[in-house]
Amino acid sequence: MCGIVGYIGNTDAKEILLRGLEKLEYRGYDSAGIAVQTETGVQVFKEKGRIADLREIVDPAVETFTGIGHTRWATHGEPSRENAHPHQSTTERFTLVHNGVIENYLQLKREYLADVTFNSETDTEVIVQLVEKFVNEGLEVNEAFRNTLSLLHGSYALALLDRENPDTIYVAKNKSPLLVGLGDVFNVVASDAMAMLQVTDRYVELMDKEMVTVTKDSVTLQKLNGEVVERAPFIAELDASDIEKGTYPHYMLKEIDEQPAVIRKIIQAYQNEAGELSIDPEIVEAVNHTDRIYIVAAGTSYHAGLVGKEFIEKMAKIPVEVHVASEFAYNMPLLSEKPLFVFISQSGETADSRACLVHVKELGYPALTITNVPGSTLSREADYTLLLHAGPEIAVASTKAYTAQLAVLAILAHVAGKAKGLGFEADLVQELGIVANAIQVLVDTKVEIEYIAREYLSVTRNAFFIGRALDYYVGLEGALKLKEISYIQAEGFAGGELKHGTIALIEEGTPVIALATQPSVNLSIRGNVKEVVARGAYPCVISMNGLEEEDDRFVLPEVNEMLTPLISVVPLQLLAYYAALHRDCDVDKPRNLAKSVTVE
Ligand code: F6R
Repeated sequence: MCGIVGYIGNTDAKEILLRGLEKLEYRGYDSAGIAVQTETGVQVFKEKGRIADLREIVDPAVETFTGIGHTRWATHGEPSRENAHPHQSTTERFTLVHNGVIENYLQLKREYLADVTFNSETDTEVIVQLVEKFVNEGLEVNEAFRNTLSLLHGSYALALLDRENPDTIYVAKNKSPLLVGLGDVFNVVASDAMAMLQVTDRYVELMDKEMVTVTKDSVTLQKLNGEVVERAPFIAELDASDIEKGTYPHYMLKEIDEQPAVIRKIIQAYQNEAGELSIDPEIVEAVNHTDRIYIVAAGTSYHAGLVGKEFIEKMAKIPVEVHVASEFAYNMPLLSEKPLFVFISQSGETADSRACLVHVKELGYPALTITNVPGSTLSREADYTLLLHAGPEIAVASTKAYTAQLAVLAILAHVAGKAKGLGFEADLVQELGIVANAIQVLVDTKVEIEYIAREYLSVTRNAFFIGRALDYYVGLEGALKLKEISYIQAEGFAGGELKHGTIALIEEGTPVIALATQPSVNLSIRGNVKEVVARGAYPCVISMNGLEEEDDRFVLPEVNEMLTPLISVVPLQLLAYYAALHRDCDVDKPRNLAKSVTVE
């Protein structure tokens, strides 16, 4: 979703901004722009489409040492050059980039800016016009900016240039992520440390409702009442090679291949000196103290939550409910007496999940975040955090973060259960090691999956994924992967549910991908496959060693029954990958999607 960069120093700002925006491409966007301070004022370059299109129009002759940049994922107004950021005030004195949504922008327009002509349909333009209005009324820029911020309802990360103060970038944040990076006689602004890792690894976190005045040699944080805030920087522990594709054609394939290493890293990270799986005792206490766990998440992380429910209920015997974050915030169920909230989020920035977390904290309940990004908003604002240790996930379609979420949820369930004399039935360290090896076998034999993708998914317009028990949840994830990157209409169903309506959609040749990895429901899912075949479906059964039947299309290596979702998802990720590739889709940056969904 929208990304922001800014640079102020003494080298060419254009190139640093453009490279920064390229690093933010993974977040998803449909237009991009930069604004730079020059001898003759602020120059804006913006374009619908990719950063490569923006590069084409940026004048290489422009000399500039200060600027801001933006990738836009359209919310208010279609993707277009007019709606692309940066936006300028009427006199072009002020220039602004914004990530977030201003909920009261129409009201602000009516109340304060009735005589202003707007050039875009965005909510953002209201902000930059308000700053100009307050400056015209006599306020200092800093004050005018703070005054404007105090009127905004909603989420924002902002970077503002003032033509009359070319040595300063004004920055502010509420709910949307933003960092200020520190350099030697330069400073930067970024939605994500990855964007500016090329120039610095030292960053200062911003809290909600703070503004920052950034020059090339100073960074001053203030609350909206003007009070100055001191905050030590942190080192972004990202390896520049983690965010490169290397020899891979796509990040998604690289990230699928990284899964065995991620599982091994998680085992290590959660092992104590005695080699036993261990989790912060305070978290174990919180889990065992609750009478019901509420897992809240979105998309792939929600699918991980469904599997996590099974893990926790079976290993720790605690009832679990799993909720879609965007619904939970507005339609909260009746809560138990001692609830514990678990937020699962790869990015730690998903606005829907964050809205729930804010609400839950207001109600005074404890919350645990399971995330891949230390220091992310959801991590900072929850009482406890468990990290995924998956390394940066750049492809929009989540793969390694999902398997990492399952592994961490299994460890949490086991450690919490063990504290009560329950836990995983076997040696979880050993079984997760077997899982890592099994995933290795799968990624090493991916050519077989490529054949299946070609055979089943090259021309179809739809596909169904069916499974029972844990396989059902993995089917949901398989369908999401396929639809988001190949644009094939794909749906996941519980095997037994098809005949309650959906089976009407089965036609001659409709691909039905059936997972059969669960001994307890093997016969039933086989029955469901027969039902769809009888109606013309083209079945692709993915089973497991020990449960396979003659016509199964792919047989997974055997792993512990409860841990099968960690490996059965891998062929589904690869199926989606190859289907998208065969259909010439942009695998890493699917249309309309954003990696980090920072608006509700
Ligand atoms: C799908 C995908 C999304 C995310 C969802 C939540 O491949 O990546 O469905 O899972 O947007 O994001 P996080 O986990 O960052 O909260």
